[in-house]
Order: sequence, then structure tokens, then C-alpha cells
Amino acid sequence: MGVPHNDSRQVIGVFDSGYGGLTVLAALHARLPRQRFLYLGDNAHAPYGPKSGGEILALTKDGVELLFRAGARLVILACNTATAAAIRPLQQNWLPGHYPDRRILGVIAPMIEEIAQTPWHSTAGPDEARRPLETVAVFATQATVESGFYPHEIALRAPNIAVTQRACPELAGMIEAGASETALRDTVTRHVEALLRNLGRAPDKAVLGCTHFPLVEALFRSALPLETQILSQPARVAAAMVAYLFRHPEMKDLTRDPTDPVCLTTGDATAVSALASRFYGRHLRFAHVDSTWESTERLLDA
Ligand code: DGL
Repeated sequence: MGVPHNDSRQVIGVFDSGYGGLTVLAALHARLPRQRFLYLGDNAHAPYGPKSGGEILALTKDGVELLFRAGARLVILACNTATAAAIRPLQQNWLPGHYPDRRILGVIAPMIEEIAQTPWHSTAGPDEARRPLETVAVFATQATVESGFYPHEIALRAPNIAVTQRACPELAGMIEAGASETALRDTVTRHVEALLRNLGRAPDKAVLGCTHFPLVEALFRSALPLETQILSQPARVAAAMVAYLFRHPEMKDLTRDPTDPVCLTTGDATAVSALASRFYGRHLRFAHVDSTWESTERLLDA
């Protein structure tokens, strides 16, 4: 990517395949209103869910690199699909040789910590076997489900938690396309009913394991049994980020007054700006970015 380095700004980069990461950005901004955020939605290539792991990894690497070159020292993959496919290869094989002083965090670890009730860097102890059996439902994209990331990481830390996954392959794309509430309700209900049939009982907890899905959380809420608790990924990720910045103050750089995020899209800026408020809760103006970089630099200087 022909993007010059710009290390003068201490922005935190937030990356998603499109709109979904805005649900995370809104929670981050609410907790850290004076932190500079630079959001990149790869709307030109969304949805990621039906793509192969290799494609998702390549697209995610490009997005992260653009954010690094824009000055981010820390990038949050605000996308379960990108996290599941790319976080390990990027952290282990790419960062050390290319950007050793930069960090990439994902949105899945905070959810695993909450579900397993254990810090990420720990595995199951002898007490785990005595914990009562709990069931967790994970609704996610095809790629996230196929990666097995959620069940694998939960099993390592809390083997007594039974995880049932349900891929909702069309849902993120429908949300990206601004589908009607009726169409979205039908789709959500169908997926929830299929998972309940498969499980044969109400799950104790449900994870909307795609950052697009909080937008249709009300539809999941009305389709799921009342006793099932829905865990909020945006709130959990924002809380984890606050704790991370407390441990790593060198990664933050607060402005004097609250500051709005700068938002970029690889897609059509006007169309993305028009739909973005549904995810973010208020108006956001997006600029188109491609490998020429200029629009990014202008926006950061504004
Ligand atoms: N927002 C993304 C996630 O959290 C994926 C949506 C997509 O592009 O398929 O999984």
C-alpha cells in the first residue's frame, strides 16, 4: 500500500469489514471521549463472513497496515470474523518483523474472559471440573463459526461450559444492505429457533459474536428465551480497553476536549455516512480512502 508513515498522532485504530465495528467504536468513545480514534470500515469488501480465512487475513492485514501508517500504535479488530482469522497470524508472524512496537487487539478475548470467568492468559485449573455445567450460544458469521475460535478458547479455560454455535451467514450482509426490520426479524427468528431445536433447552448465555449483530439485538432478545442472558460485546470490549490503557498509558494520548472519531471507508463515503448513524447512534461523516492516502492525511489534519 503506497501510504507514507505518519507517526505524529497517537490515534487508536479501529478496524471492521464495514459498519459492525461502529457498535464497538460507540462504546469505546463513550468510555474514552477524549481519545482520538481512527475508524476504518472495509465496506468495499464486506461482508467478510463468507470469505476464506486466507482472504480475510489478507484484507485485515491491509486495513491494519493503513491504520498503522496513519499513526495508530494500537489497532483494535472490531470484527469477530477478522479476529478469528487474523489475530494470531498477525500478532505472531507479521507484527514482530514489520511493526514490532505496535499492537493489535481483538474483540473475542474479552468475551472469552467474561464467559470463562478467567483471565485470557490462564488455562483451566482443577476447580473448573467442579463448576456446574453452563450452556452458551454463539451466533456469528460462517467464517467465525468454522474457525472454532470461541469453542476452542472457552474449552481451554472452562471445560464445563458447553458451547453451541449457529452461523447466520446472511445476516451481516443484510444489515450492510439496510434490509427491512421484517426481513431481519424473520432471519434472526429462524436462526434462534434452529439453535434452540439443536440444543434442546434454553442457553444460559448468548453471545452475538459478530459486531454487526448488536444492531439487531432487540430481535435476538425477543426470539431468545427470557432466561437467556445476552452478553454485550461492545460494552465488554470497551471495559477491556479501558483496563488495557490503564496498564499501557503509553498507548493513549488524550485531547483536552471530547473529540469525534475520524472515519474512513474503502466504499462509497456518502452511502456509508448515510447508514452509519444506525450503528453509531449519531451522525458520522466518512471519507473514502484508497491506497493513495491523501484523504486520510487531510482528515487527520482537520
Ligand atoms: N462485523 C463482523 C464480525 O464481527 C463481520 C461481518 C462480515 O463482514 O461478515 O464478525
